Amino acid sequence: AEDGYDLWLRYRPLAGAAQAQVQARARSLVLAAPTSPTTQAAVTELRRGIQGLAGREPELTSRVSPGALLLVTRAQAPAGLALSWEELGREGYALRRATLQGADVTVIAANGDVGLLYGSFAWLRAAQTGEDLSKLDQRSAPKVALRMLNHWDNLDRHVERGYAGASLWDWWKLPDILDPRYTDYARANASLGINGTVLNNVNAKADSLTAPYLAKAAALAGVFRPYGIKVYLSARFSAPVELGGLKTADPLDPAVRAWWKAKADEVYRAIPDFGGFLVKANSEGQPGPQDYGRNHADGANMLAEALAPHGGVVLWRAFVYAADASDRAKQAYAEFQPLDGRFAPNVIVQVKNGPIDFQPREPFHPLFGAMPKTPLALELQITKEYLGFSTHLVHLGPLFEEVLQADTGHGGTVARVVDGSLEGHKLSAIAGVANIGTDRNWSGSQFDQANWYAFGRLAWDPDTKAGRIARDWVAQTFTTRPAARDAIVDMMLASREAVVDYMTPLGLHHLMDTGHHYGPGPWVNNLERADWNPTYFHKAGRDGIGFDRSPTGSNAVAQYAPSVARLWSDPRTTPPELLLWFHHLPWDYAMPSGRTLWAELVARYDRGVATVDDMRRRWAALEPDIDPQRHAEVAAYLAVQAREARWWRDACIAYFQSVSGLPLPAGTRPPE
Ligand code: GCU
Repeated sequence: AEDGYDLWLRYRPLAGAAQAQVQARARSLVLAAPTSPTTQAAVTELRRGIQGLAGREPELTSRVSPGALLLVTRAQAPAGLALSWEELGREGYALRRATLQGADVTVIAANGDVGLLYGSFAWLRAAQTGEDLSKLDQRSAPKVALRMLNHWDNLDRHVERGYAGASLWDWWKLPDILDPRYTDYARANASLGINGTVLNNVNAKADSLTAPYLAKAAALAGVFRPYGIKVYLSARFSAPVELGGLKTADPLDPAVRAWWKAKADEVYRAIPDFGGFLVKANSEGQPGPQDYGRNHADGANMLAEALAPHGGVVLWRAFVYAADASDRAKQAYAEFQPLDGRFAPNVIVQVKNGPIDFQPREPFHPLFGAMPKTPLALELQITKEYLGFSTHLVHLGPLFEEVLQADTGHGGTVARVVDGSLEGHKLSAIAGVANIGTDRNWSGSQFDQANWYAFGRLAWDPDTKAGRIARDWVAQTFTTRPAARDAIVDMMLASREAVVDYMTPLGLHHLMDTGHHYGPGPWVNNLERADWNPTYFHKAGRDGIGFDRSPTGSNAVAQYAPSVARLWSDPRTTPPELLLWFHHLPWDYAMPSGRTLWAELVARYDRGVATVDDMRRRWAALEPDIDPQRHAEVAAYLAVQAREARWWRDACIAYFQSVSGLPLPAGTRPPE
């Protein structure tokens, strides 16, 4: 059944020339590399893929003959294969045609076995997407060292902000029962180059560090290891109190430090290649070093000291905000920027893409570029907490790309900060909050698979174009027929701006209804904490709308580099997309379009609805190109989205109108 379980690794039979070339270029498979679980995985994947695509399994042989596909490591490389091995690094690969022993062959070459695995997936991708395999000439090495999924999975299998079923990790049956799905999860990640996974929620329970859970995590690590994926755990800062019976978790207390050292030793006895700890501290009620008058560096460095002898890292999150802050957007910078240079070498500070919380659009986080002595990881959210969960079709490639390509004004883009090249950091990381669960299709909807995919591809190379990634995904997942492929890609690329328009246009943010964050709630104003109320974020009144973060307001804009701050301090030089993020403006403020702000706001809400209607029409026209099961499923989801885009538009406009007291702009249609 076409239920989406196979993700982008479908390997359905190709047609015509595309099939013929796979048959011609993969007549046989030669492993010119040491046998290891990883090269075994590569060979198994190639055989499975080629069998599916070409309808014939290639013979595994040691003989080099015409049409052979060779997996080659440097040490085993046959004479006559000239390659610049150095630039491939530990994980990179090269794919190309070569003549070896007089035979016309294809080589997948790498320095080590993980590179061969990645190269095998890249070759299969080229085959699936219909590239000319005889002209193949790729060299690729990851720009970012740690490419990680963060699972917000609780030990009871509830997934915080998860919209794709329960947690994949069946803690009850682990460590003895290894669901085959764990292997498929590893294959999917390895196909993108994802090389780390944090198994449990950042809102962590100390239990995850007890011996029974470590044994379970070790069993998962054993499944993932051949696929180049390391396991990490979220650590609860107060674990020494809760598990160790200590009176304090003060990071400067010798007994606390000793407890963590012993715990780290225990973790590495269970999982020798354990990746490290992810920590959410002093945020949203989580314990942390500030409970003892210490700072984030004190806390992170204590854990870093415990992990360092084993080669582990600490990913310390910068997502912090306290109650009654006048501007929540400022807090992370205020707490972290002064600590630049105070973190141990194996600490990475993990920063969300924007200063609030995974909104449809935010400016990039001001910490990027502002902590040159500290490796900063970019944290993206793949699960769509604020973007319509898994029912709305919103492709995140353009959102991720927009953040990565933003110029920090500190000498480079966010991508250059995150990949470490701007400041010469060897340690670099990018993390995506996973959208994966037990649903047959893994992600809750067919199209949400593309967000996992886009994240992985951008983690490998943050400069890949979102359109290119979407094209590959569509070709691997739905169809290679050019017209259909382009139509789907167009839908995907338009979908991000659509959700911005129908939820939070012009720099508005956090208008979602409380707690669950699904659907509109701009009127909500009764929460225990002011900074959880949508009214705190939009500040709409008779006089106008928007959060003044300019020098006349909270001056959050001053946390950006001078060149950026100058632009965004003035509404006339602030892009319309961020206008109400930084400015509180009168309803009749003149927009570049010639409309008033009020009329522009209404027009954007309308445009969002129109784009969704257009996506629906496009999808309906694709019926002949898509299998009935997935076509019908996506169509049903789009119908929900079309209805709910109207709900968003009509609720927001009605509410803002009640505040502004203004009539609807001329020509506006009344709510349907
Ligand atoms: C958001 C989200 C929480 C999550 C938090 C975090 O606020 O709603 O569920 O715990 O982010 O990133 O820590």
